[in-house]
Amino acid sequence: MSIQDQLKLAVARAALEHVRPWFGSNAAIGIGTGSTADLFIDELAAHRDSIAATVASSERSAHRLRGHGIRVVDLNDVEDIPVYVDGADEVDASLAMIKGGGGALTREKIVAAVARTFVCIADASKKVDVLGRFPLPVEIIPMARNFLVRELSRLGGKPRVREGYLTDNGNQILDVHGLMITDPRGLEQQIGQIPGVVTVGLFAARGADVLLLGSPAGVQELRRK
Ligand code: A5P
Repeated sequence: MSIQDQLKLAVARAALEHVRPWFGSNAAIGIGTGSTADLFIDELAAHRDSIAATVASSERSAHRLRGHGIRVVDLNDVEDIPVYVDGADEVDASLAMIKGGGGALTREKIVAAVARTFVCIADASKKVDVLGRFPLPVEIIPMARNFLVRELSRLGGKPRVREGYLTDNGNQILDVHGLMITDPRGLEQQIGQIPGVVTVGLFAARGADVLLLGSPAGVQELRRK
C-alpha cells in the first residue's frame, strides 16, 4: 500500500469515531464517493449490524455499500442525516473544498446540504492555501456545453470536456483548469447562476465542518471556524 493510501486509510478509520454515536440508532449516515470514501465504506462493513441505513452520493458508493450488506436508502425516504463523510480533491483553511474529481459532485452537494455535520477525510496532499490547482469540475446540461466553455473561459479558466464521461444524472462535466480561487463562495455563486450549470464543484457556502487530515505524523482534526 502506498504512503498516500495508508494516510487515506488512517482518516477513514478516524471518521468512524464521528459516526459511532449513531450506531444502534435509526439514523441514516451520508456516504461520499471516491477512493478515500471507499476505504471508509470498507471500515463501516464491520459495523453493518449497527447501521440502520445509509444515503450514498453515487451509484458507485451505493454498490460498494450493498456489497458489504449495508442498507442504502433513497434520500427522499429520510428527513435527517446527522453526519456525512466524504473526501475532497482540495481543501483550504476555511474548509472550503473542490470536489467532483470522481464526478459525483451534484449528489454530493445534495447530501451535504441535508447533512448536519460534514466530515471531510483527506490525506495531507489535498490541503492547499488557494483552491484551483485541481481543475474545478462543473456538471453541465450537455446542450449548454459550448456556451459554458465560452462563459467559463471568460472567468479566466480553461474548460475541458471530460471525454467519454456521463454523470449518474446523465450530464457532462467540464473540468476548468488554471483558476486561482481566492473567493470560493463568490465563484461558487457566480458559476452556479450560469444557465446550463447543474452544479459547480466548489463546496464553500456549505463547506466541511470537520476535516480529518492524514499526514505521516498522524491524523489532525480541524474544525470550521
Ligand atoms: C467525487 O466526486 C469527489 O468529490 C471525491 O470526493 C474526491 O474526488 C476525492 O476523491 P479521492 O478520495 O479519490 O481523492
